[in-house]
Amino acid sequence: MALRVGVIGYGGRISGVIKSCIRALDDTVKVAAITDIRNDEIRRQLGAEAEGITFYDDADRMLDSERLDGVLIGTRCTLHTPMAIKVMSRNLPMYLEKPVAVNLEQILALHEASKRYTAPCVVSFPLRLSPLALRAKQLIEEGAIGRLEHIQAVNNVPYGSIYFDCWYRDFGTTQGLFLQKATHDIDYLCFVAGDRPKQVAAMMSRARVYGGDKPAGLHCTACDEFETCPESPFWKNRQTGLQPGWRGNADHPCCFSVDIGNDAVGCNEDSSSCLIQFESGLQGVYTQNFFARRDAGARGATLIGYDGTIHFDWYTNVLKLTRHHENETVSYKMGSETGGHGGGDMELGYDFLRAIREQKPSRSPLAAGIQSALVCLTCRQSAEQRQFLNVPYPA
Ligand SMILES: NC(=O)c1ccc[n+]([C@@H]2O[C@H](COP(=O)([O-])OP(=O)(O)OC[C@H]3O[C@@H](n4cnc5c(N)ncnc54)[C@H](O)[C@@H]3O)[C@@H](O)[C@H]2O)c1
Repeated sequence: MALRVGVIGYGGRISGVIKSCIRALDDTVKVAAITDIRNDEIRRQLGAEAEGITFYDDADRMLDSERLDGVLIGTRCTLHTPMAIKVMSRNLPMYLEKPVAVNLEQILALHEASKRYTAPCVVSFPLRLSPLALRAKQLIEEGAIGRLEHIQAVNNVPYGSIYFDCWYRDFGTTQGLFLQKATHDIDYLCFVAGDRPKQVAAMMSRARVYGGDKPAGLHCTACDEFETCPESPFWKNRQTGLQPGWRGNADHPCCFSVDIGNDAVGCNEDSSSCLIQFESGLQGVYTQNFFARRDAGARGATLIGYDGTIHFDWYTNVLKLTRHHENETVSYKMGSETGGHGGGDMELGYDFLRAIREQKPSRSPLAAGIQSALVCLTCRQSAEQRQFLNVPYPA
């Protein structure tokens, strides 16, 4: 039976998920309806594909008018919670982009709505379902390193200037890079460890690398440093700084302008870190950086027990297990055909299909999205207040 899905916010991320991770697995899935504020532009972009899609400018009207098997939400961050609550009130299966919420009010509203919501929800956390994370979880559960005692997790983002040169630079929308970026990493760490954070102590550095005194609204092509700035699209400036092929040579807002913000008005971090005390007593540390480049890119974790150490990194797609009391280290190299986010994107698509076809529970559920958003928000507050804070889980 052909499946009909509706989309709220048909932007870059969700259109990619639909094409590469849902319709690639099942091309009978049909986008029946779209709600967006750019409907004319989307119609033009889709061309012939737009025929048969009904466009709405109001999510409630779409949800009331269409018979849908499931809904995908791909708006920017601040609208995830309000749109999710609309879908949840119709008890429809849902694919929800992260972060699922950006403030405590939204987190609590989502938590309340989830008590009456029984349909499956797939939160867009691909890392937890990547083969690397699943292998790490399996090895820990088999006892390969003994009881997990210590986590050291890193995310050195070699494409980090996107958080300063496009819509992501708007702190009002992202609410900072714990919620925007670390939400993935905090989630996979909890998933792999089978534990949840009790207390966090965080720190962040802002407006030391990005931001500055260039005028608000400045774009590269109007700047007198166009030919020399490493963030400029001029010739090869950016290609040598970012991963090859990433983002091309498009003009963009200045990464070093006053409108990036600062500590007083809020802005995305250049780097940020947190200590995490988990409920079991497990200790963790996570640190993220947005100005490392090229081969310095790293994303993964070292997980240590008395009996062994697991280390994995999504840039190499390798997991290494060292057994402390045997003369042995084993490496697992994951296949290169796994797709986006170390293969996790495809797994999310698979879970959404099972959710809408069979009502099968998701391996990336709403509760995980809510938990991660709450931990990340608590990290930001800890950094702002320079205090250890307990994570205030709702009842
Ligand atoms: N899970 C992941 O790995 C991952 C990766 C990239 C982005 N994201 C998340 O996906 C979200 C979208 O990012 P993007 O890069 O696709 O942004 P985008 O701007 O390309 O897409 C957002 C879409 O929402 C639409 N929109 C805005 N206001 C709306 C409204 N009131 N009603 C309906 N639609 C509306 C926009 O017109 C646009 O089409 C972000 O929250 C981002 O954090 C997640």
